[in-house]
Amino acid sequence: MPQINSVKDYIRTIVDFPHEGIMFRDVTTLFADPRGFRMAIDQLLHPYAGAQIDKVVGLEARGFILGGAIAHQLSKGFVPIRKKGKLPAATIAEEYKLEYGEAVVEIHDDALQPGEKVLIVDDLLATGGTCEAGIKLCERLGAEVIGCAFIVDLPDLGGRRRLQAMGMDVHALCE
Ligand code: PRP
Ligand code: ADE
Repeated sequence: MPQINSVKDYIRTIVDFPHEGIMFRDVTTLFADPRGFRMAIDQLLHPYAGAQIDKVVGLEARGFILGGAIAHQLSKGFVPIRKKGKLPAATIAEEYKLEYGEAVVEIHDDALQPGEKVLIVDDLLATGGTCEAGIKLCERLGAEVIGCAFIVDLPDLGGRRRLQAMGMDVHALCE
């Protein structure tokens, strides 16, 4: 019998990256595997079968890879949320704190229309700061975030509780 792996089996851990003390959960090994990548996309979408989703929003950088595949699968548009200074047209911005540092994310101010339903996608939920900033950007444009989907949730860092406290539906494939 061929062995059937779970998504978690394809993720590797890099110790002390990008700083000492960080156990970096590296999903590039999941993305590089044809079965692993397909399984991840299918499982990310599973709870949203039949749901109305107008746009898929991906958080830089690995959320672009997942969000692009998901948007294509749904035949919907993809919208990037990027780190400060990367988007070429007019933007709105939100500051946030990371597990290791601080940052600003931006979205084009015409990327979402009021009332559009969006799914936010990223590889990993840690403190939830990045995703919270992403939710705020979508909501400032009048969109409704119907869910936030991740490959990995790091439960000790409290991101799920933080997003759920905002009333968000949080979906993660593994911890
Ligand atoms: C990682 C990860 C999430 C974020 C999660 O990205 O891909 O976007 O951290 O952390 P949080 O829940 O504490 O906000 P990172 O900031 O390392 O940026 P990158 O994707 O550009 O490498
Ligand atoms: N982003 C924040 N914390 C992380 C971790 N431990 N592994 C991968 N990405 C992260």
